[in-house]
Amino acid sequence: MADASRCDFFRRVVAMAPMATGGNLPYRRLCREFGAVRTCSEMVLAHKLVKGGDRPLLRHHETETDFGVQLAGKHPEVVAEAVKIAEDHGAAFIDLNFGCPIDLVVRKGAGAALLRRPAKLGEIVAAARAATGLPLSVKIRLGYSADQINCVKTASAAVEAGADAVGVHGRTRNQRYRMSADWRLIEEVAAAVPVPVLGNGDIFTCWDLAKRRTETRVESFLVARGALIKPWVFQELGEGRPLDPDAPARWKIMRRYFELACEHFGDDAKGLERVKRFFLWHLGFWHRHYPWTREDFLAHAPESLLQARNPRIEGDPEEELLASGDPADHERIWVRLLDRDHPGA
Ligand SMILES: Cc1cc2nc3c(=O)[nH]c(=O)nc-3n(C[C@H](O)[C@H](O)[C@H](O)COP(=O)(O)O)c2cc1C
Repeated sequence: MADASRCDFFRRVVAMAPMATGGNLPYRRLCREFGAVRTCSEMVLAHKLVKGGDRPLLRHHETETDFGVQLAGKHPEVVAEAVKIAEDHGAAFIDLNFGCPIDLVVRKGAGAALLRRPAKLGEIVAAARAATGLPLSVKIRLGYSADQINCVKTASAAVEAGADAVGVHGRTRNQRYRMSADWRLIEEVAAAVPVPVLGNGDIFTCWDLAKRRTETRVESFLVARGALIKPWVFQELGEGRPLDPDAPARWKIMRRYFELACEHFGDDAKGLERVKRFFLWHLGFWHRHYPWTREDFLAHAPESLLQARNPRIEGDPEEELLASGDPADHERIWVRLLDRDHPGA
């Protein structure tokens, strides 16, 4: 069963959600510098780990004091072995992935496929529970599809099997990101289980967080795309106010990521190639930043701000460049970064 002190580990936290690619070590460090105290690995496939693969995904930086490893798998004994490996590599907590929607994972019966098999899900949690004394969370979705909503059932199965917390992404597997997260159902889970629920979905601003805190009993939160679009979101959420760094300040943040990525991947030709790949990938999210105001937030409610199309930022060429989604502009930003041809370089 869940243990009180391990449950406490998950109370009143605003954590960086697990993210494949986006949760790379240097990006987690950047978010940590902006106040993301709780970080998590990208999804690690238990069977690969047990066979000796995926070890780089277990690495974390010494500043990541509350770093967890997220595992996905469908065989309880394999997941249990993977849990032990993650613990040996210094994980502070374990998260089990029951939400991954990717066809490749679901077809193999792991990730979100297990939402349709609550008993099996429980067996996997029980095996993980038996394998470690670390705090143990699970991450679920509302259900597999809109006509198979069963989050209270899967959450309860996980808790009965020993999970100390339940992360709930407020969408189904089939919804992907087409609609705003359903916090009414997240609240239903929070009302039903005796452990902390980590609410997840569409937290982009301090107003989103305040609304969820006021309207639900959820006290802990996972932030994913908000962190990818603006790593400073954790400071905003902590301070309860928008920061809205201007273009020169955002160049400085991009340079900081570049430095952290060079430190991690290396700054020789091979390392720089990888840094570039990640940097361009992140630009695909960074350019979506828009200085949303409380008025924007109220005008779009109850839909999430990201469902709305941002007005174009016009007039300031630097702002226009940083808001561009054009891959050619992203190349330009990369070259300017290398050339130190930007404000504050
Ligand atoms: C690029 C990307 C990668 C993700 N990878 C994972 C993952 O490895 N494991 C996981 O549980 N969820 C993953 N997610 C889902 C997020 O953790 C989160 O549940 C979802 O994005 C909803 O939160 P948000 O509205 O704050 O973005 C990923 C999301 C994104 C955008």
